Amino acid sequence: MKNAPLFPHLIHGGDYNPDQWIDTPEIWDEDVRLMKLAHINSATVGIFAWSLLEPEEGRYDFDWLETVLDKLHANGVSAVLATPSGARPPWLAQKYPEVLRVEESGIRNEYGVRHNHCLTSPVYREKVRQINRALAERFKDHPALALWHISNEYSGACHCDLCQQAFRDWLRKRYHNDIDELNHYWWNGFWSHRFTDFSQISSPKGRGENHVPALTLDWNRFVTAQHVSFLENEIVPLRELTPDVPVTTNMMCLYPGIDYQEMAKHVDVISWDSYPQWEHGRNEQEALTHAFSHDLFRSMKQGQPFLMMESTPANVNWRDVNKLPLPGRQAQASLLAVALGADSVQYFQWRKSRGGHEKFHGAVVDHAGHENTRVFRQVAALGEQLEQLDEAVGRRCESRVAVVYDWENRWATDRYCGYNNVRRDYAGECIKWYAPFLRRGIAVDVISETDDFTRYDLVIAPYLYLLKEGVKERIAAYVQNGGHFVTTYLCGVVDPHDLCYLGGLPAGELKDVFGVWAEETDALLENAPGRASYGGRTYSVDHVCDILHADGAEILGTYESDFYAGSPAVTKNSYGKGTAYYCAFRSDGDFADDFCEDLIAACGVAPDTAIQIPKSMFLRKRGDLIFLFNFTDVPRTAELDRPYLDVLNGAAVEGALTLPVCGYAVLKSSD
Ligand code: GLA
Ligand code: ZN
Repeated sequence: MKNAPLFPHLIHGGDYNPDQWIDTPEIWDEDVRLMKLAHINSATVGIFAWSLLEPEEGRYDFDWLETVLDKLHANGVSAVLATPSGARPPWLAQKYPEVLRVEESGIRNEYGVRHNHCLTSPVYREKVRQINRALAERFKDHPALALWHISNEYSGACHCDLCQQAFRDWLRKRYHNDIDELNHYWWNGFWSHRFTDFSQISSPKGRGENHVPALTLDWNRFVTAQHVSFLENEIVPLRELTPDVPVTTNMMCLYPGIDYQEMAKHVDVISWDSYPQWEHGRNEQEALTHAFSHDLFRSMKQGQPFLMMESTPANVNWRDVNKLPLPGRQAQASLLAVALGADSVQYFQWRKSRGGHEKFHGAVVDHAGHENTRVFRQVAALGEQLEQLDEAVGRRCESRVAVVYDWENRWATDRYCGYNNVRRDYAGECIKWYAPFLRRGIAVDVISETDDFTRYDLVIAPYLYLLKEGVKERIAAYVQNGGHFVTTYLCGVVDPHDLCYLGGLPAGELKDVFGVWAEETDALLENAPGRASYGGRTYSVDHVCDILHADGAEILGTYESDFYAGSPAVTKNSYGKGTAYYCAFRSDGDFADDFCEDLIAACGVAPDTAIQIPKSMFLRKRGDLIFLFNFTDVPRTAELDRPYLDVLNGAAVEGALTLPVCGYAVLKSSD
C-alpha cells in the first residue's frame, strides 16, 4: 500500500460520469480540455457504471473506461476508480431477487434507485467481488489509477431472511451460544421477554420489537459488522491485484447508521462527503458542524490526512429549497477542510447530467457546457489557490486536546426512554464543547471512547452515557497519571449492554475520580429553564441536569433555581496527578465557552499562534500554514502579532487583517 500523500498536490477533482455520455465521446474530449482550465487533477470514475461495465451477466465491457482513463492520464488527471456496488444493473435484480433489500416492513423492494442492496446476500457479494476482480485485473497497471473508491455512501439496513439469520448467528457468537446470557444482558425478564432459542429473535422494527434498547444497540453493531464484511469482501481482489493502491469509502458526516469509527479501521484513507446548508444567520453554526466532522474524520486515523470526497460547487438538488450559496462560500468551505487535514477538494459533480434525478444538482460544468460560467470560474480560481498549498499535502495534524464523540454512545443516547425524550442531541452537545477550541486557534481531535486518551493534555467527554468496556478504568488511569478530564451530565450511566450501573453514578470508580455522586437527574421544560452560577456569572440550565453531591470535589458552580438551588453544578477534583471536572448541566448559553476559557488557562493548553482573533473567527495551523476564517455574516478582524506572508496572493500582511463575509486567508510567518 502506498504511503500518504497520494499526490504531490492537493487533490482537486470530483465525481465524473463519462458513462452518461457514452454516445457523445466528443464530450469526453471537451471534459479533459475543461478539466485543465479548472485546474482539476483527479476524477472519480465508475461509481454508478455497472450497467455499462457488465451489460449482461459475465460479459464485461471495459474498453470505454480504458479510453477515459487514457484521456485523463494524458491530461495529467489521476483516477479515483470506483467499485460499482452502489447501484446494480436491472438484469442482476431480475435474475437474483435476493440482492434487493427488504425494508423493516418485511416487504422486498422492487428494482430501483440505489444504495439498497442486501448486505448479506451471497449472490450480491459474489457478483460484486467478480466485477471488482475484473476491474482490478484490467486496470492494475493503468498509470491513472491512484485510489480505489469502494462503493458509494454505504447506508441503511436489510431485514430479509438472510439478514435475520446472519443477525442471529452474530448474536450466537457474541453471547457464546447461550440464550440465557443474552436474556441477562438484554434484561429480558422485563415484560416477559425471555427467549428460549435464538430463532425467536429478529431485527428491531416498528411492528415488532422496538422497546428493548439492548436489542437495537446490538442490531446497530450488527449492521456495522455487515457493512464492514461487505466492504472487506469488495476489497479482497483489490488487495490481491493492486496491493499498492489504497482504498477508501466515502462516508457521510455524522450519519448514525454505521459506526464509522469502526469502519475506518478497514480502509487506508478516510474520505467523506460534506454538504453544509448555508443560510444567513446560521452559517457559523453550520461551519462548526462541518469543522467538527473534519476533525472527527481526521482523528479516525490519528491525524492522517483525509479526503473531502464530495462537496457541491454550487447548490444541491435534494433539500426543500436549494438556495445558491454566496459566491466565495464554496472556496471558503474547501479551505476549511484543507486547514483541518483534508488533502483534497472534490466535487459532486464534474458535469451536470442531462437527465435523471440529479440533473439540477450543482456541477462544475453546467448544461451550458462551457467555461464561461460563474461557478466554473470560481472552481478554476480555487484550483489555482490549491496549487499554492503544496506544503499542506500529507501534513498530519497534532492536537493536545480531544473531544470524545462516540457512535455507540450516540446510539444509546438517541434511544433511552427517560429524562428529556425530545432534547438529546448528543452531537450538538459535543460540538458545543468543541467550538471553543476552534475559536481560539487550538487544534482539537475528535475521538472515540476507545481511542488513547494519553496522547492529550485535556480530554472532554460530554454526555458520556454509555461506557464501553474498560473506559472507566482508562479514564481513572488517565487522570491518575496527570490528565485533565471533563465530563458533563448523565456520565457513566450504562455499561456496553445498556444495563444501568448499580451503586450510584457516575459508574464505579468514576465517583472517586470526579469526587461526586450524581443522585438524581432532572429534565427541564422548554419554556422553564433553570439557572446555575459559575465564575460570577449566571447561565441557563437547559433540558437536563444532574443533582450532585460533592464527595471530595471542589465546588466551582452551583444551581440557583428549583429545589436543588445551592447544590453543586460544576465541580473540580484532584485525583492522583490529574484533575477531573464534572459540569452537571446542559446550557444553551455561553457556559461551555466560558468554562473552556478557564480550562485552557488551567491546563496550560496554548493556542498555536499569537494571532488575536475574535471568538467569531476560526483559526487552525497545519504545518507552518495558518488558516483564518470568517463564517459570520459581517466582516471580522484579526490582529496579527507579526508580519506574515499571505500565501494565496503573495502579499505581505501585518497589523489588522479584516476578512469579509466568506473570507479566508492562509498565512505564513515571513521571518
Ligand atoms: C451523495 C452521493 C452522490 C450524489 C450527491 C448529491 O453524496 O454520493 O452520488 O447523489 O449525494 O448531493
Ligand atoms: Zn438482506
